[in-house]
Amino acid sequence: MGPSVVSTGHLPEPDAVAGLVQAAWERYRPVTEGMVADYIPALAAASPDWFGLCVAGINGATHAAGEADRPFSIQSISKPFVFALVCQALGGGRARESIGVNATGLAFNSVMAIELNAGHTMNPMVNAGAIATTSLVPGRSHAEKWRFLLDGLSSFAGRSLAMDEEVYASEAATNQRNQGIARLLHGYGRMYCDPDEATDLYTRQCAVSVTARDLAVMGATLADGGVNPVTRERVLDADRCRRVLAVMATAGLYEQSGDWLYEIGLPGKSGVAGGIVTIAPGKGGLGIFSPPLDEAGNSVRGQLATRFLSERLGLNLF
Ligand code: DON
Repeated sequence: MGPSVVSTGHLPEPDAVAGLVQAAWERYRPVTEGMVADYIPALAAASPDWFGLCVAGINGATHAAGEADRPFSIQSISKPFVFALVCQALGGGRARESIGVNATGLAFNSVMAIELNAGHTMNPMVNAGAIATTSLVPGRSHAEKWRFLLDGLSSFAGRSLAMDEEVYASEAATNQRNQGIARLLHGYGRMYCDPDEATDLYTRQCAVSVTARDLAVMGATLADGGVNPVTRERVLDADRCRRVLAVMATAGLYEQSGDWLYEIGLPGKSGVAGGIVTIAPGKGGLGIFSPPLDEAGNSVRGQLATRFLSERLGLNLF
């Protein structure tokens, strides 16, 4: 893997960052492992060749390589950001009591994890906890709640995001498992609005279209204690930001979260469209997009390039 750099408290000089981002792209572009997700039919059309990455510093500077501006659906990467918005609206204590913050050690859409935990969700990074989180979103109507979600995610990205209608329709027609999870939680008194409404809002938030560059800026916002480095808007209070990073470190890569933390040493979150966001607290965010996934649903090139950049840029927290 080459030289591993010890964390210094800041990113290296801009030219060095730009060179390493380009080097990561060149190094992992030829990788052929992994499968594009097809359980959401609209995602199956993605090319396995698409690969883009971007680093955003907390000063707002971005360094990109490859297809960093190609849109894709945010999917599960919406989970930490929606958890952040709900923590901001309701307080981190209430969010923790209602949702939980411990790892499941099980797949992202596990029903067994709910049963093993006496009907309580385990954390906001897996589907059960994420749908429960979305059920806490403030608003008097479905439209108001959706506006809260879309505006909030846009504030993290520093630009107006939109939902990909095709991905939404495709997942809405095939998300019986998530509907089942929401209704099971409802039966346990762990849904905080109508379960079908929560599932629909969750499906919408997962279909929001972003780029690797957007993910880098969203990550840099969490890296800077909740202040967007491009717009300078405070999206989240610093004490809540810390909680969000804690749950990402615990469960962001599902049952592989321990391996991820062991190798990369940073909070991260993956999505089935092939995105991964990683946060280097106090330094910046890294956004990667590459659709082929491993068995746990995490981008193969995304993990390799993140490990390379964590080592070469000296980002590992430990
Ligand atoms: O709920 C689902 O199945 C998708 N909307 C999101 C899953 C996902 O991104 C899992 N991550 N790697």
